[in-house]
Amino acid sequence: MSISKIRAAVVGVGVGWNHVEGYQSHPDVEIVGICDMNPQILKERGDRFNIPLDRRFDNFDDMITKTKIDVISIALPNFLHEPVATKCLERGIHVLCEKPLSTDVASATRIAEAAEKANRTLMVCYNHRYRPEIMWLKDQLRTGDFGRIYAAKAGWMREGFIPAHGAWFTQKAKAGGGALIDLGVHVLDLALWLMGYPKPVSVSGSMFAEFGMRGQKTVPRNANLPTFDVEDSGMGFVRFEGGAVLQFESSWASHREPKADGFFVRLFGSEAGANFYTAEPNGETVAIYKYVSDQPSAIVPKLPTTTNGHRIAVHHFVDCVKNSKTPDSPAEHGIVGLKIIEGIYRSSKTGHEVEV
Ligand SMILES: NC(=O)c1ccc[n+]([C@@H]2O[C@H](COP(=O)([O-])OP(=O)(O)OC[C@H]3O[C@@H](n4cnc5c(N)ncnc54)[C@H](O)[C@@H]3O)[C@@H](O)[C@H]2O)c1
Repeated sequence: MSISKIRAAVVGVGVGWNHVEGYQSHPDVEIVGICDMNPQILKERGDRFNIPLDRRFDNFDDMITKTKIDVISIALPNFLHEPVATKCLERGIHVLCEKPLSTDVASATRIAEAAEKANRTLMVCYNHRYRPEIMWLKDQLRTGDFGRIYAAKAGWMREGFIPAHGAWFTQKAKAGGGALIDLGVHVLDLALWLMGYPKPVSVSGSMFAEFGMRGQKTVPRNANLPTFDVEDSGMGFVRFEGGAVLQFESSWASHREPKADGFFVRLFGSEAGANFYTAEPNGETVAIYKYVSDQPSAIVPKLPTTTNGHRIAVHHFVDCVKNSKTPDSPAEHGIVGLKIIEGIYRSSKTGHEVEV
């Protein structure tokens, strides 16, 4: 791209405020529009980030017809990712889309095809990849010192956080699923990213809806959910080409340590293993395990305590657009995660392992 300032917009400024912050902190980017249909949220975010009034929109079509936009972040409810992303791509706008890429594989594939046709960058926002521990671990894996990664475990098990705000999170038609597609997709991506994105061949799993139906463990507490037809937890087992496997689990709600909300990835390689976990409330820990002088040893690095994952993701997206590079998390990574999650949904229904 040869223009000096990249013109950026953000649609949906719930969690999307992180994208506003990401663009604003980039020297080569100017925010030309933010959009949210909720007037309070639009005002709060607009005021917080000093967005001029004529750059705030409550209607997406208004924003894209009235504004020249080069890049856009989409942070809308999942069912709106496809119509909004394809419209943007058809207009030549590069897209950074929040996870999950869409509600299902077919829809996510249509977004990827629209990007291909328009020859525009499409990146999935997997911000947790940019935690210092994960970045360090990925660098260690690049050295090849782990040998062959033959197995992994990953999970994000919340004690009690069924999202009740916005209502769409708990509706299959709008979200695509529950805890697995919301939280599970993040840790699935972390495990796959660290393993080098092996190709899944089959999946087995089960999902459960134990609490949401009863209005339990919701945030806000005891919320009266208009619809709850998704899982509040699930567990799966994935086999990959080449023989590696992944065991993973995710919940919005489960009876466990009060307020637990951490996630983890464990890797088992022929020459070394690793463990990453978030130690609530604020800590994160990573270690590599291997033989040193013929003794089993732990290697624990000293790392910065935190990074802003969304900011790094947004800056990486801008860099890819400017320099015509493929993003770390292209559309395929959004599609593979959805294939595995859909596989668990199918397996849960049939009671058998399914091919993906
Ligand atoms: N990467 C992460 O860490 C992370 C965290 C939370 C959510 N997410 C993802 O981000 C997306 C949004 O999640 P959220 O938690 O912000 O949801 P939310 O419901 O809190 O916010 C979505 C916003 O979109 C607005 N909106 C809805 N329909 C609209 C429309 N047609 N036009 C304009 N605005 C509209 C709503 O008013 C709301 O402010 C989801 O895909 C979710 O999975 C990612």
